[in-house]
Amino acid sequence: MILMILKSRISMRTKACIFDLDGVIVDTAKYHYLAWKKLAVMLNIQFSREDNERLKGVSRMASLDIILEIGKMTPDDRMKEEYAALKNKWYLDYIGRMTPEEILPGSLEFLSELKSAGIKTALGSASKNTPLILQRLGMESLFDAVADGNIVRNAKPDPEVFLTAAKMLGVLPENCVVFEDAIAGVESALNAGMLCIGIGSEKILANAHYVITGLDKMSLKKLREIEKVSDNEQLL
Ligand code: G6P
Ligand code: MG
Repeated sequence: MILMILKSRISMRTKACIFDLDGVIVDTAKYHYLAWKKLAVMLNIQFSREDNERLKGVSRMASLDIILEIGKMTPDDRMKEEYAALKNKWYLDYIGRMTPEEILPGSLEFLSELKSAGIKTALGSASKNTPLILQRLGMESLFDAVADGNIVRNAKPDPEVFLTAAKMLGVLPENCVVFEDAIAGVESALNAGMLCIGIGSEKILANAHYVITGLDKMSLKKLREIEKVSDNEQLL
């Protein structure tokens, strides 16, 4: 009996959906890669798309550290600031040319379905460029809260970004679902005690509770199915 009550309380538990930005809502992950690649070429560092998976979801300076580690380079802090600024300049050149067509398929539809159902929405991104991107694409009003690299100190896989978003929304972590395309982001969501739906490849995002190829494969009905399965698994 208690188990049944618990089950019915846990299922339909989603009160908020928190979205990573780059590679989940908008197709900016490719621009981060292109800008880092340009820097790597300049520094004569071999940097592959595979290496790039380690950068996804990771803050700007931490990403630079990974690239420098690959190239076995140890520049001083002033040079590091310069490299990061250069990368960001190239990244912003790409962003400046971005159009609403680069909003990833299914994002707008799913966000509006959530709104109609009274489910809160937030962004949880390491990017300091989040406000600029939202403004450029006219998406500011679609999120009830934005937790981004401008307010969060500890980068993913630390749970701070998603816990901050949940707090801003006034929703408990166990009632939040995170959508993430990065390995570090999936870890961050799990560390926050949230249900995590990976966006991308099942092989890469193996730790997510469920993986889809994009938000065009998501709907409220599908989300309810996923949360039911994950609740049952937890209770077994
Ligand atoms: C996101 C991206 C990372 C990026 C980070 C910081 O998490 O997935 O690739 O490095 O944001 O972005 P920023 O726009 O502040 O350089
Ligand atoms: Mg991402």
